[in-house]
Amino acid sequence: MSDFKGNREHWASRVGFILAAAGSAVGLGNIWRFPYMTGEHGGAAFIVIYLLAVFLLGYPLMVNETLIGRASQRDPVGAFKFLSPGRSWWLVGALGVFTGFVILSYYVVVAGWSIAYIYKVFIAVSTPGINHEAVFKSLITSVWEPIIWAAVFMILTISIISAGVVKGIQRWSLILMPILFIIILILIIRSNTLPGASDGLFYYIKPDFSHVSGRTFLAALSQAFFSLSLGMGVFITYGSYLKDHDEIPGSNGWIITLDTLVALMAGFAIFPAVFALGFKPAAGPGLVFITLPAVFAQMPLGIFFGVLFFILLAIAALTSAISLLEVVTAWLMDEKGWSRKKASILMGIIIFIAGIPAALGYSIFNGFSFPGLGTDILDTYDWFANCLFLPVGGLLAAIFTGYVWGTKQAIDEANKGKTGLAIGKFWSFLIRYIIPLLIFGIIIMGIYDSFKR
Ligand code: TRP
Repeated sequence: MSDFKGNREHWASRVGFILAAAGSAVGLGNIWRFPYMTGEHGGAAFIVIYLLAVFLLGYPLMVNETLIGRASQRDPVGAFKFLSPGRSWWLVGALGVFTGFVILSYYVVVAGWSIAYIYKVFIAVSTPGINHEAVFKSLITSVWEPIIWAAVFMILTISIISAGVVKGIQRWSLILMPILFIIILILIIRSNTLPGASDGLFYYIKPDFSHVSGRTFLAALSQAFFSLSLGMGVFITYGSYLKDHDEIPGSNGWIITLDTLVALMAGFAIFPAVFALGFKPAAGPGLVFITLPAVFAQMPLGIFFGVLFFILLAIAALTSAISLLEVVTAWLMDEKGWSRKKASILMGIIIFIAGIPAALGYSIFNGFSFPGLGTDILDTYDWFANCLFLPVGGLLAAIFTGYVWGTKQAIDEANKGKTGLAIGKFWSFLIRYIIPLLIFGIIIMGIYDSFKR
């Protein structure tokens, strides 16, 4: 283990780390989940609370995880072993690896729908009078289609991860993230130049706090966790590929800003078009797959913009999925001495198999529901990951730094880099007191809320 640091791959540049991590953060959470959550929770009022959650909770936690990774130069399990030898804190890392496994298993299913929609939207938009809900239902209720598309998506994910940190993750993030940005910009321009677009814009930027309740806070906080890829060791793993004097707080600031910007931009692309063409914003998870194709069908050049939108969604999902597989791969490489190829291919296949029940949750396993824990199998995986594992993981990582590793050590680690933001006492205060309390509150409320319904 002594030459560990020497053998480890590292990001080739600061931009490489920022875009790879932003690629992890920007995903289905921003473009699929954020807009419908905003729609369901009253538009701009939700956004204000979300922004608070991102900066007060998300940012300090992202810095915390990145520091644990950089200081230890190891995967999430090895990181806790290294910083606190002989104690059980490595279990926090193990929970993270397991959570990555669970999230990726259903993430590939939704990502597979996105790939399928690159051509489905083409057919849907060019067939007058088609029932858009039926198109979506026929995709998810078929037995083979969701599985095949999930497999295609998993193969793409594996091939990027098996190529390595620099030649795989960094290379593809540098290519795909700018493309993603340009596509969103094009869609924003299209959407806002439709007659009647201003109604949607108004809804999106004018806060209406009458819809705000305890549930709104809860929704905003868990959305922040998911969207920023926090609580399961993505940032420990990506942080472990940073070199000793690489700057951290400023890079994390960039990553948070990019993720938030893309979520807000997705709303600017979607709401004006939805309102302009007479649809309702609060359409739930079907907003992207059912409402949007209907919107594209009525829009000049709708086929072109529809196809472009689902390419965007698939790219965003891909750069996120690779971060999930990388956590599991890094664990097997660092802890079990597996080669990168063997770890990524074997785990990719096993995770894909674990996701098959979620893919079949609308066909063969239709009607399997777990009262309080989700309406179908995919939803149940999602519940465990989002309401339980991620917040618990983030909470324990904060407690670890606050009371075991020590915020002083962490701050010294953070301020090794010469440039950028510096963190200090306020960060320490958040990590030790405010964040554990807030997250604890979220978990309790989340569980209570789930069983109440
Ligand atoms: N952040 C990604 C999204 O918004 C999803 C994701 C990737 C994720 N890695 C994660 C979520 C780790 C939680 C934890 O779609």
